[in-house]
Amino acid sequence: MSSQSRSFSMLHLALLFLICLDIVAAYDCYPRKVAYTINVSNLPGAAINYTTVQAAINSIHEGNNQWIRVLVQPGVHMEQVVVDKPCILLEGHSLSDTIIVFDSHQQLNTSQTFYVKKAAKNFIAKSISFKDTIWDLSGHHYFFECHIEGQVDFICGNGQSIYQNCIINVLGNGYITAQKREAEEETTGFVFNKGLVIGQGSTYLGRAWGSHSCAIFHSTSFNTFIVPQGWSAWFIGQKIAFFQSQTFFFFFFYLTPKNMTIQELQSFTQLSYIDSESPRGWLSRQPID
Ligand SMILES: *[C@@H]1O[C@H](CO)[C@@H](O)[C@H](O)[C@H]1NC(C)=O
Ligand SMILES: *[C@@H]1O[C@H](CO)[C@@H](O)[C@H](O)[C@H]1NC(C)=O
Ligand SMILES: *[C@@H]1O[C@H](CO)[C@@H](O)[C@H](O)[C@H]1NC(C)=O
Ligand SMILES: *[C@@H]1O[C@H](CO)[C@@H](O)[C@H](O)[C@H]1NC(C)=O
Repeated sequence: MSSQSRSFSMLHLALLFLICLDIVAAYDCYPRKVAYTINVSNLPGAAINYTTVQAAINSIHEGNNQWIRVLVQPGVHMEQVVVDKPCILLEGHSLSDTIIVFDSHQQLNTSQTFYVKKAAKNFIAKSISFKDTIWDLSGHHYFFECHIEGQVDFICGNGQSIYQNCIINVLGNGYITAQKREAEEETTGFVFNKGLVIGQGSTYLGRAWGSHSCAIFHSTSFNTFIVPQGWSAWFIGQKIAFFQSQTFFFFFFYLTPKNMTIQELQSFTQLSYIDSESPRGWLSRQPID
């Protein structure tokens, strides 16, 4: 990760589903089911194909366009994983027993445990935990029923993402998000819908990492202390639109020329925000139900 004055805290990201699609969309994987499975276990003697997740991913060819399941058996997998091939379903056994961890999250100059590259169009992770910061860098993402915990900027980047029904666990005083939208024309943002924020300490919902940062918490229950101002301008700017209603907490820099209506805000929480062809777009073409 490359930014000044950022400190990363330990994050435990447990995913049920994470679905990514790059913004240049229209990369389809055929058919809408898994073509074959590659089995990964780091236990000796297991009847498997590879002992590391990375070796399994490396075995997939670059122009892959069929769904391939990388099935990761229970265990703590100490490795750094770079996903750089399209159409991969990374599936663990369960959130509690398939864990990928690589101790790099405390170093600002190193890459993260788990990195989904742009070339990895259509990526899904299911029933697996990563210990790292979520770098929601770019592209369109759908996080469903995820459990995410951390302290400082633990959901960061310039992705366009919906976090649906996720539990966010705040581990101490800090900031949940650091969204990095840089221009008015960009459509990126982090949208938390129907989730639950729990934890301890007092937290900001986010701080602006970009001049037009955007983050929205909608129909979210808060069971931890949120600082009254909600958001921090950090070193970017001052002009924060912070909107609070019964169902919205909304944070948007340089909101011009007018405030959003509830209807406009509502459009962020529709799946069409990340999948313009919804309900028949890329989200409906994943090999999971
Ligand atoms: C994967 O490997 C495990 C452990 O050896 C084995 O129990 C399981 O049947 C294998 N699954 C597939 C789909 O090959
Ligand atoms: C994985 O290993 C099994 C059992 O040895 C084998 O039948 C299968 O072809 C292998 N699959 C891949 C993708 O290498
Ligand atoms: C990152 O920082 C660590 C500790 O400061 C150092 O040992 C390591 O070589 C650095 N890595 C890179 C890729 O610069
Ligand atoms: C936006 O709403 C805020 C709070 O209701 C208000 O103070 C501000 O003047 C409004 N801005 C515009 C441009 O309407």
